[in-house]
Order: sequence, then C-alpha cells, then structure tokens
Amino acid sequence: MSQTKPIRPDSQIITVQQHIVQQQEAHSPDSRGTFSWLLSGITLATKMIQSRIRRAGLVDGALGAEGATNVQGEQQQKLDVFANNALIHCLGGRDAVSVLVSEENEEPVTFDRAPGTGKYVVVFDPLDGSSNIDVNVNVGTIFSIYRSPKPADGHKPSLDEEVLQSGLKQVAAGYVVYGSSTMFVYTAGFGVYGFTLDPAVGAYVLSHDNMKMPQQGQYYSTNEANQRSFPPHYGTYLDELRDGKLGKAYSSRYIGSLVADFHRTLLKGGVFLYPPTKSHASGKLRLMYEANPIAFITEQAGGVATDGRNRILEIQPTDIHQRTPLVLGSRTEMEAFERARLAAGA
Ligand code: AHG
Ligand code: MN
Ligand code: MN
Repeated sequence: MSQTKPIRPDSQIITVQQHIVQQQEAHSPDSRGTFSWLLSGITLATKMIQSRIRRAGLVDGALGAEGATNVQGEQQQKLDVFANNALIHCLGGRDAVSVLVSEENEEPVTFDRAPGTGKYVVVFDPLDGSSNIDVNVNVGTIFSIYRSPKPADGHKPSLDEEVLQSGLKQVAAGYVVYGSSTMFVYTAGFGVYGFTLDPAVGAYVLSHDNMKMPQQGQYYSTNEANQRSFPPHYGTYLDELRDGKLGKAYSSRYIGSLVADFHRTLLKGGVFLYPPTKSHASGKLRLMYEANPIAFITEQAGGVATDGRNRILEIQPTDIHQRTPLVLGSRTEMEAFERARLAAGA
C-alpha cells in the first residue's frame, strides 16, 4: 500500500512564514521583514476564511447569496463578502500595502501611507468558485503581489501605473485551496511550494517541496457544455485528446472552481481550458486576479499558460477587471494545442 510520508519529523516543521523569510534571505534580503509581514496578512485572512467555510453549514447566515451583485454583474455570495472583508482587514492593517485590488471591489482600495512605506500592491480573488460554496465542493482564494513603481523624478506613480502591471512584474503569487485539507501554494519566482494547514498547530506546514507539473498528464479540464461555442480548433484539439492522439486516452475532470481545477493540473498534469465562448467572447476568467497568479505558478512549475495564443504574463492590462481566455497545462498538451491552433490558421 502506498503511503505519503511527511517530508520531515513532526518536531521540525517548516511553516510558510519561515519559508518566506528563508527565501527572502537568499534572494532579496532588503525586503525580507516587510514582505513576510505582508504575507502573514494573507495567511491569517485565509485561516479565517477556511474556518468560516468549515463551519458554514452550522453557522447561521454563512451560506447563500448576499443579495448584491459585484462589478462583474455576478451575484455575491455571503462567503464572497466575508472573504473580501477578511482580506481587506488583515492586509489593510499592514503598512507595507499601498493598494488592494479585489474582484469584489469595483475600484482599487487605497491607503495613505507614510513616506517609505506602502511598497506593495496586492490583487486578489477572495473566494474563487462561488457556485460551489453551497454544495460543499472545493473553493479557493487567489492572490498576486506587485511592487509599487518607484517615484520617477519625484512624482508619485499614478494609480493606473501602480495597479495595471503585467504579470511578468509579479513579485509573488499564490492560492489557497479549501479542499479535503486546506493548502497554501505560492511562488516568489524561485519555484513553487505547497503547505498544508495543520489544524492542530494552526499553521501552514511545508508538505509539497519544489512542486513540478508533470510533462504530460491524463486529464483535460473544460466546461464541455460550452464546446459548440468555442472557436473550432478547440474542438479539434479536444477530439485529439479523446481519440488518444497524444498516446493516451484522456479523461475529463471539471470542478468549476479555477483553484481546484488548477491544483489538480499542477499535481497531475494535463490541460485546463477556459476558451472564448458566445456569452464571454473574451473568456470568462479575470486576467489580474485569476489568470496572472495561476500563470506565474504554472511557469514556475515548468508548465505553459497562454490566452490561447500569447503568453498570459506578457499581457498589458488596461482594466483591473478585464477578462481573458486561459489555456494552461503540461508541456506536451500545450505543444499539441499550439499545433492544432496553427493547423487551423487561427
Ligand atoms: P468566481 O467564483 O471567483 O467568480 O470564479 C468563478 C470562475 C472560476 O473559478 C471557474 O473556473 C469558472 O468560474 C467556472 O465557470 P463556468 O461555470 O462558466 O464553467
Ligand atoms: Mn474566481
Ligand atoms: Mn471570486
């Protein structure tokens, strides 16, 4: 019987906080204290969110719709609002943060910080996979961190210059998946690391060291109900996977929470696709707080992430809530997708 062994004895755990400090010491000693304090705002908020999710069916008023719609025109769930408030509260109290950008806030949330502080912009999807909340299926939180541009010629950068940075400028990105266990996965540009929340200790503990996406997987993940409105080469490509053209017959897996669908793709390989559709001609997923952080992690794990044509990380955002198609996964599947696109002249 196979059994996963802990990667070190119980008495020698490495928490996400220790890991970040070690990484900063090795790679950017100037910012280590500030950056790890900032990250601790995210870990604290996600522990609050996971605790709320774990008890959602027991606590009066935790499940269901809030009654309002967000900037995307989507119905806000009560847990969307709770998660957003928790992140804004925990991050807003850290003076390293100059701006917060959230799926749930139409405009960036700004803070008037003392000179020399407020170095970072944090962008997040507080609760990803809202349609799965009420049915006890995995949901997540996604975040991305940028440095505020330095003042040029004594002029403070404009809010647009601060927030509309391409994914290449990300200093760190990560997600938490509230699954059968709660996991925190992040990259600061030096590999991808996964931590499992140990509820007894109350800390995220290193459980997945230097994660790499397999070269090829056996799953494709897409909302197949939309297939007739995908551009035609997507259908050709999916048929190739189903027909065993890549040397194996693929199975489909689709949860409908990007974090969960991505987490499986990271661990098992394969391909995830959210193409343009009739109702979402530019794709449904949001560039800044869904596609960019997930693309950064994908590349750091050895995979490929595009909008169906171009590298996600190179897209220059023009709006904090803009959408993009997203195709990502293992090298073998992504090369086959590119061949199908070129063959179709698309
Ligand atoms: P959110 O709950 O943050 O609005 O995100 C929902 C997203 C994403 O998690 C998932 O990949 C996608 O919506 C699923 O969309 P479909 O239901 O159209 O397949
Ligand atoms: Mn989302
Ligand atoms: Mn969301």
